[in-house]
Amino acid sequence: MKIDLVTIFPRLCLAPLSESIVGRARENGLVEIAAHDLRDWTHDRHRQVDDVPYGGGPGMVMKPQPFFEAVRDLKRDSPGARVLLMTPQGRPFRQEDARRLSREEHLILLCGHYEGVDHRVVEALADEEISIGDYVLTNGSLAAAVVTDAIVRLLPGVLGDDASSEVESFSEPAEGGPPLLEAPHYTRPAEFEGMAVPEVLLSGHHARIEAWRREKALERTRAIRPDLLAEKPPTRQG
Ligand code: ADE
Repeated sequence: MKIDLVTIFPRLCLAPLSESIVGRARENGLVEIAAHDLRDWTHDRHRQVDDVPYGGGPGMVMKPQPFFEAVRDLKRDSPGARVLLMTPQGRPFRQEDARRLSREEHLILLCGHYEGVDHRVVEALADEEISIGDYVLTNGSLAAAVVTDAIVRLLPGVLGDDASSEVESFSEPAEGGPPLLEAPHYTRPAEFEGMAVPEVLLSGHHARIEAWRREKALERTRAIRPDLLAEKPPTRQG
């Protein structure tokens, strides 16, 4: 898989994708990630990527032209590449999106900044607008790194053979029920500062352990994320 990030902060985008699991995946050739400076597609002396908003109002708006030229260039060898615009105005990014996008061959992530991007980028360039949550970051570069990380760890060979990505929070449980938060995890020692590990986990009784984990997962989901137990939102059309 190839992922192109288009941003005015290429180093900020790339830093979190250069360590640990994603860094190793890149070194091992499991994914090719490139961060491009949007200013490379400007043509003026000041390499300006923003301008004042039509109709007035505070802040600046990112110009359409550098984004259009960037995408045209990056799509040259793969016209079918999927273009994602990172914006707090987008649809919330979920695990099922990470899974769906991990099956693409080529993704182009566009990072907004300032008050927003010219709406022609949204309408004519982006296949989807993605938000990583209901809060506003200073720019989309960190959001692009988050989305990239969530996708890359699902690529074949990236996490190794223990298949831990299949049994974690937000993945579908085996029986096909709703996604749940994970049951609590513990490691040694069995007692720490007066707090004991639940007895069942020391029992070696796999069926009882499974039942306990299922019950705790439901309990935690009810308490912390009751929305996950409500009806599933419609899946993204594309
Ligand atoms: N840019 C700024 N805030 C963002 C968010 N929450 N998600 C995606 N891109 C953003």
